[in-house]
Amino acid sequence: MPTDLTSALADVRTLLLDTPHLARAVAAGRRKGTEAPAAERVEVRPVLLKAGPHLQFTARTGPVVSTRNVPVDAAGAAVDDLLAEPYGNLHVETATEVVQVRVTKKGDAQVHRAAARHEAGPVGHDKAKNRIVDPGDPMFRVLGAGGDKRRQVEAFVRQLAPLTGTVLSRPGDRLRAVDLGCGNAYLTFAAHRWLGDAAQARGKALTTVGVDVREDVVATGRRAAAEAGLVGLEFAVGSIADAEPFGAGHAGSAPDVVMALHACDTATDEALARAVRWGAPLVLAAPCCHRDVQRQLHGNRAPLVRHAILRERFADVLTDTLRSLVLQLLGYRVEVVEFIDSAHTPRNAMIRAVRTGSGPRPAARAELLAELDDLTRTWGVSPALARMLEPELAAVRTATGEAAQAAL
Ligand SMILES: C[S@@+](CC[C@H](N)C(=O)[O-])C[C@H]1O[C@@H](n2cnc3c(N)ncnc32)[C@H](O)[C@@H]1O
Repeated sequence: MPTDLTSALADVRTLLLDTPHLARAVAAGRRKGTEAPAAERVEVRPVLLKAGPHLQFTARTGPVVSTRNVPVDAAGAAVDDLLAEPYGNLHVETATEVVQVRVTKKGDAQVHRAAARHEAGPVGHDKAKNRIVDPGDPMFRVLGAGGDKRRQVEAFVRQLAPLTGTVLSRPGDRLRAVDLGCGNAYLTFAAHRWLGDAAQARGKALTTVGVDVREDVVATGRRAAAEAGLVGLEFAVGSIADAEPFGAGHAGSAPDVVMALHACDTATDEALARAVRWGAPLVLAAPCCHRDVQRQLHGNRAPLVRHAILRERFADVLTDTLRSLVLQLLGYRVEVVEFIDSAHTPRNAMIRAVRTGSGPRPAARAELLAELDDLTRTWGVSPALARMLEPELAAVRTATGEAAQAAL
């Protein structure tokens, strides 16, 4: 029997905002005699993000899909906006029932309720198999990113996501991120989208800057950011070694998050050195080719590096080991992880570094220095990152020597 639409919508509103018991909801179809709703179909589900429980709104119109995550405690307005759209059908699944509301030709509501069991409540992205970066996000269409690149940036942002709490909890109303060697800016866009949502949930604004030496890719990035309507996403032409994406030398000019995806050869070292000098709290770098150390191993007759292919693979391992030691010595907790299956890119290692502030204790520092010196001496190499951060490493050596003297 038809009932009053206003009270039926009020019931749906209550169900949508009862996130512990909500499984999913869909708004679709157009009411007779009305304009089309803003999106053809909107799906709503509770999700658990790093920043807390959110309602996720996935709007689809034709092939275009966009996703918005709204913190649960601020979701009332977003639900009101959705219910104000002239959808003809609303379908809500909760832990215990299915509620369907169909708007009749006369503008009343035909409500059908049935008992049913659904898994309800906010679930983490992994459990929900939701992508952290929506592959249907219009920004990818604007950028023209292919499947492999989308998977790479998805995997990269998946590594970034659980660590963002460390930077979001810092004082200040602005979060700053930089993508060094941004190239076609797929990561810049995807990270900006994800970090932007996370920052907004904490009441912060986000600025992300993509840096690249190539003027053409920077121009394309700027155009795409404008076309995708992304606020706070900027680009700068320049070399990583002296990038100052937020201006130089004044408070708040250092990025909170430094990212580099496949910055060629020593450009990854430039990114890491830059991050250390900025004192960036969070650094994620997926290195590319490792020619610097590889070149220095050339002519070494040790069996491990005698054959070109083995030398290349060993240079990868040695370079990232040395980078990791340098970063640890300079105050970072470091993990080297595989961020994506090698089927999608052979360059699938990632250095994840979180600044710890005080750095290692003197004894641990002495051990790390010994490991660094032992490896560079044994293999007769001088890695780019250690060369770039020579003054910082010299200061660590002095402090370690003084601590050893004092302990005698
Ligand atoms: C292999 S591409 C990767 C681009 C992008 N990060 C991605 O994964 O799609 C490397 C990019 O780094 C840029 N690049 C290399 N060395 C650089 C440097 N020293 N300073 C700034 N950009 C650099 C190149 O111009 C190129 O666009």
